Amino acid sequence: MADEIRFFELNTGAKIPSVGLGTWQSSPGVVGEAVAAAIKAGYRHIDCAAVYGNEKEIGSVLKKLFEDGVVKREDLWITSKLWNTDHAPEDVPEALNKTLQDLQLDYVDLYLIHWPVKFKKGSTGFKPENLVEPDIPGTWRAMEALYDVGKARAIGVSNFSTKKLADLVDVARVPPAVNQVECHPSWQQGKLHSFCKTSGVHLSGYSPLGSPGTTWIKSNVLQNPILKTVAEKLGKTPAQVALRWGLQMGHSVLPKSTNEARIKENFDVFSWSIPEDLMAKFNEFEQARLIRGASFVHDTYGVYRTLEEFWDGEI
Ligand code: A2P
Repeated sequence: MADEIRFFELNTGAKIPSVGLGTWQSSPGVVGEAVAAAIKAGYRHIDCAAVYGNEKEIGSVLKKLFEDGVVKREDLWITSKLWNTDHAPEDVPEALNKTLQDLQLDYVDLYLIHWPVKFKKGSTGFKPENLVEPDIPGTWRAMEALYDVGKARAIGVSNFSTKKLADLVDVARVPPAVNQVECHPSWQQGKLHSFCKTSGVHLSGYSPLGSPGTTWIKSNVLQNPILKTVAEKLGKTPAQVALRWGLQMGHSVLPKSTNEARIKENFDVFSWSIPEDLMAKFNEFEQARLIRGASFVHDTYGVYRTLEEFWDGEI
């Protein structure tokens, strides 16, 4: 009997459900149905963010699911993220309040600094002139205050390199519980994975399928011949094997889908496992970061002059 790997324990003692529904690029109009389908299929973890522009619709659906008795608030794990325009300490509680209002909740289970990047307050779009110098320790203190009052039951970061995470761990009163980053067989995050293990930070993987639907990303993770061979051997789909690989590595995984059949497929990863000899095959994957954050790097604006600098060499 395979170890199901339904949860991972965070440094707060809370258990984060290991498979969460991603909602990045789930358009308003379809995201609600996707969330409802996922929860009915057994998902208990929804990964949201203010910048995805769909938290209101998710909130309406959650309210209905609670009213209809489909799921209880306390059985769900809801993550959201602080956008780059709201890094100033005085803006952080307001940003969470807006998210809570949209989601119609009184707390989130996890609140993350979305990027180690600061935009001018109130600015829109990803224009270089919006970039200003971040003060991560200052923003983190405001996140800690939200943790103290219980509006965020855990706090963490997203898109932090090993160095940026280590710098934060050094100064944090409340240590980050999670670093949510791109992670899949073709970008395994070896260095960060090791650091997270030794420092007690949980690594949560976004784009665990390599984001095949994103037009500006050249993704072929699901077409990888090694992944396909392992999937054939196990009688599973490449997507299921990519997700199960993440779980066996110790990462929670956040596959996005708005298609009911694929939502169900992506949750069928608990009753079987990848044997050790096939897990070893993943060492052979060529590595390439897909989501590079090029719009956060500029030679005049902001603080990151190159992608090398932005990712502290992990590129
Ligand atoms: P769709 O929403 O139509 O299902 P990631 O989570 O890595 O960012 O990947 C999300 C993309 O992968 C979306 O385009 C989604 O499309 C697609 N996708 C989700 N689940 C599967 C699956 N099981 N097989 C193939 N593609 C999938």
